[in-house]
Amino acid sequence: MSVWICISILTLTWIASLAKLTRRYLDYNASTPLHPCLDRKWPQFAKAFANPSSLHESGRVAREAIESARETIASFISASPEQLVFTSSASEANNQVIQWVFDHHGPDAHVIISGLEHSSIREPVSYIQSQGVQVSIIEPDTQGRICVDDIAAAITDQTRLISVIWANNEIGTIQPIPEILALAQKNNIPFHTDAVQWLGKYEINLQTLDVDFMTLSGHKCYAPKGVGALYAKDPIGLTPFIRGGNHERGLRSGTENTMAIMAFAEVLAHTDPSALEAHIRPLKSQLVDQLSERISDYYLVGNQSHCLYNTLAFGIQGVDAQALAMNMDLLGIDIATGSACSSGATEPAHSIKAIRLPKSQQNEVVRLSLGQFTTAEDIEMSLAALSQSADQIRHA
Ligand SMILES: Cc1ncc(COP(=O)(O)O)c(C=O)c1O
Repeated sequence: MSVWICISILTLTWIASLAKLTRRYLDYNASTPLHPCLDRKWPQFAKAFANPSSLHESGRVAREAIESARETIASFISASPEQLVFTSSASEANNQVIQWVFDHHGPDAHVIISGLEHSSIREPVSYIQSQGVQVSIIEPDTQGRICVDDIAAAITDQTRLISVIWANNEIGTIQPIPEILALAQKNNIPFHTDAVQWLGKYEINLQTLDVDFMTLSGHKCYAPKGVGALYAKDPIGLTPFIRGGNHERGLRSGTENTMAIMAFAEVLAHTDPSALEAHIRPLKSQLVDQLSERISDYYLVGNQSHCLYNTLAFGIQGVDAQALAMNMDLLGIDIATGSACSSGATEPAHSIKAIRLPKSQQNEVVRLSLGQFTTAEDIEMSLAALSQSADQIRHA
C-alpha cells in the first residue's frame, strides 16, 4: 500500500471521528427534518386523538382539526378546502390519479407522461398499460427538459390525461408546466402535475395555474411522513383508490392521520418560499463555485437554468457514485446517488438513464440537496470531504 493511500486513510479516519460529533445532512429531496414550529405543538395535536368520524365531542374535536388543516393547506396553494383529499403519501395520490383515468375511460384511453416521472406515476401507468391503455412517454432532452412540441405531437383523440412532474427529485430539473398546461387546456385534456419537490420551495397559486390534479407530500417540506394530498379541481369526478369507510367524502377510505395532517398545515403556515430561497440559493452557489476549484474532471448533470435552487446533481470522472456516497457517509455527510425511494438499487437512477448520460458516467452521479438547516459550514465540510474521497477512490 503506498504511503499516499495510508495518509489518506488516516486522514479519513480522523475526519470520521470528528464527523461523529456533527452529522451533515444533504439529502433534503429524499426527506426533510421536521420544522421547528412543531416542537411545542405535539401535545396540542395529541388532544385530537379521537376518531374524526365519531359523532361525540372528542371525535368532533379531531374533525375540526382536520378541516381547519385542510383550509390552511388549501389557502397555501390558493385552492378551496373541498378540492383537497388527504392521502397517506404522494405515492398514493399519484396512484389515485392514474387509477382515475382507467376507472373513467377504461382500456380505450391514451395517457401521456414524461420520461422523468417518479415511480409512483410510472408503475401505475405501466399497470394500466398492461390492461390495454395506450401510453406515450415523452423523453426529455439530454439536460432533462421536456419539449412541449413533443407532447403536442403525441396527443390523440383518445388522450385522457397528461401528467408531467413539476420538478424532478433526482436531477432537480424544472419543467415548463404553464406551457404544458396551456397545451392540455387547448386540447381539452385533464392535466396532472406531481408538485412534491416544488411545494414549499416556490409559490403555488392554483387560481393562476389552473391544473386539474396536483400531488403534494408532507415529508419533503418539513412536515412528517405519512401524509400527502391530492388536489382535484373537480373532486366530484374523482374515484377512490382505497375503498372502505367512505372517509374524505368517499374519495379515500381509511381513518385520517390527524396529527400528521395538523402538522402538515402548521408547517405550511410557517413556510415562506422566498425566505427559504434567499437562504439556500447562496449556499448552492458556494457549492457550485467551489466545486470547480476543488474537484477536477467533474460535470454537472441536468439543466442548470431550470433547476431547483436546492439541488445539485453531478458526477466526477472515474469516481463511482456508490463508493463516493459511502465515503461521505463515513465522514458524516449524507448524500444520495439517486432516488432515495429506490435505495438499495444499484441501477442508475431512472432520470439519469432518461437523459441518456453516457454509460460510463451513469454510475458516477451523486445528488446533494440542501435545505432550511444547511449552513455554509456544511457546504465547506462537504466540499473538503468530496475532494478527499474522490482522490482516495481514484488512487485506490
Ligand atoms: C417527485 C416525487 N413524487 C412522489 C414521491 C413520493 O412521495 P411519498 O414518499 O410521499 O410517497 C417522491 C418521493 O421521493 C418524489 O420525489
